[in-house]
Amino acid sequence: MANLLSGNLDFACKSANNALHNFHSFPAKFPPELPRAFILGLTAPLDTVLDPMLGSGTTVLEAFLNDRRAIGFDIDPLALLISRVKTSSPDPEQLSDRGSSVVSRARAALASEPNKLQHDLEGRWDAKTKAFVDYWFLPQTQLELVAIAQEIDRICDLSVKEFLELTFSSIIITKSGGVSLAMDLGHTRPHKVTPVLEGSGAGKANKGKRLRSAVSDFEKRFGTNLRAMRMRPPVGKGADAQVHYGYSQSLPLRDESVDLIVTSPPYASNAIDYMRAHKFSLVWLGHSIEELAKQRTEYIGNERIKRSVDPLPPFSEAVVSEIAGVDQSKGKILHSYFCEIKLVIGEMFRVLRPGKAAIVVVGNSIFRGKSSYTAECLAEIGQSLGFMVPGVNKRNIDRNRRMMPIGNQVDLNSVVQQRMLQEHVIGFYKPC
Ligand SMILES: C[S@@+](CC[C@H](N)C(=O)[O-])C[C@H]1O[C@@H](n2cnc3c(N)ncnc32)[C@H](O)[C@@H]1O
Repeated sequence: MANLLSGNLDFACKSANNALHNFHSFPAKFPPELPRAFILGLTAPLDTVLDPMLGSGTTVLEAFLNDRRAIGFDIDPLALLISRVKTSSPDPEQLSDRGSSVVSRARAALASEPNKLQHDLEGRWDAKTKAFVDYWFLPQTQLELVAIAQEIDRICDLSVKEFLELTFSSIIITKSGGVSLAMDLGHTRPHKVTPVLEGSGAGKANKGKRLRSAVSDFEKRFGTNLRAMRMRPPVGKGADAQVHYGYSQSLPLRDESVDLIVTSPPYASNAIDYMRAHKFSLVWLGHSIEELAKQRTEYIGNERIKRSVDPLPPFSEAVVSEIAGVDQSKGKILHSYFCEIKLVIGEMFRVLRPGKAAIVVVGNSIFRGKSSYTAECLAEIGQSLGFMVPGVNKRNIDRNRRMMPIGNQVDLNSVVQQRMLQEHVIGFYKPC
């Protein structure tokens, strides 16, 4: 493990199978080469590989494609959908038929029954969710989206339906806010923009966001995702992928049942607010704004202060105290974050077999100009729970390949932004 950890972990060049990983954008996702290197280097076929915070399922898909038994947990509905679709095997011919039929039937409904679609839109949500949709989507886009969503709803085969739902979601959640009026879902708090509808004749001088037809976007994206699915290499007989809703702080797994963990927890203090972006498509997939707001409070790294008096090891306590010295509330938030992560690392220790490893990738946070020393604190917390830490390495994040918690304009004089362009890879080893 030490050898793998000390190598170059930037993975700046693209390699095979990445199209499958790109079904849907997701903030702070791994380059696939990162989990792949550890899976191939530290496990054998049919070993069990776990990601307790699976996000877009990069670890789980890599383990599956390499004939391992993959298990992943998350509490984010979109993360679960993405990961299930990437590791499911719908029949490509059936997919192709159903996808084309969704497009043609949605176009027909838009042409022949716009009033019915409008009526369906009115009854689709509670008042709060409808207000959110009205604020962020143009009336014409809403009609197109509901026409597609209703056609997808009619599909019975779950793996085909989820593939199409994911394609649908991927036209809404993009760095530029997709077919919504959000200017940027990937980097900043969303801003609403003035749209220029494609084909409206508005000149190039008009700087508004160019909004394309949702049905055309869906059709194009469907073609891309279908091609990626068709090119997926066959997986071995024993390969398996299980994706479940579950909290990483209490994993429903037996003690000593896992051969490798590769995971990355959220940043501290909501630096990436998953739900902020995900609700843009989740409302179209049947979730209400109220339910999603409740769910958001459950994420590790949210700014909720837990009434925990759990002691942390000395260096971590000192980091928290230093930050509390300049901002008491931020100190409490960081303390809560480390306590949550301590529970997760405790679970990782419990489920790993002795002699096996956990690879944890973490980003740093800055509170009032002071570093959270997240990697150093997590390494210390892991050691306090019985892990050995054979190595910690830094990797540079490729901004072109990843949605980041900071804006497009990098200020090289900003210590905060520089630190956000790197993350740490911590190797934990459970002694025999
Ligand atoms: C940094 S992302 C993981 C990205 C992933 N490595 C990938 O390649 O896509 C962290 C994930 O942790 C999940 N998460 C947050 N709190 C959680 C909890 N209590 N239990 C399980 N997952 C959680 C978030 O929903 C998010 O998907």
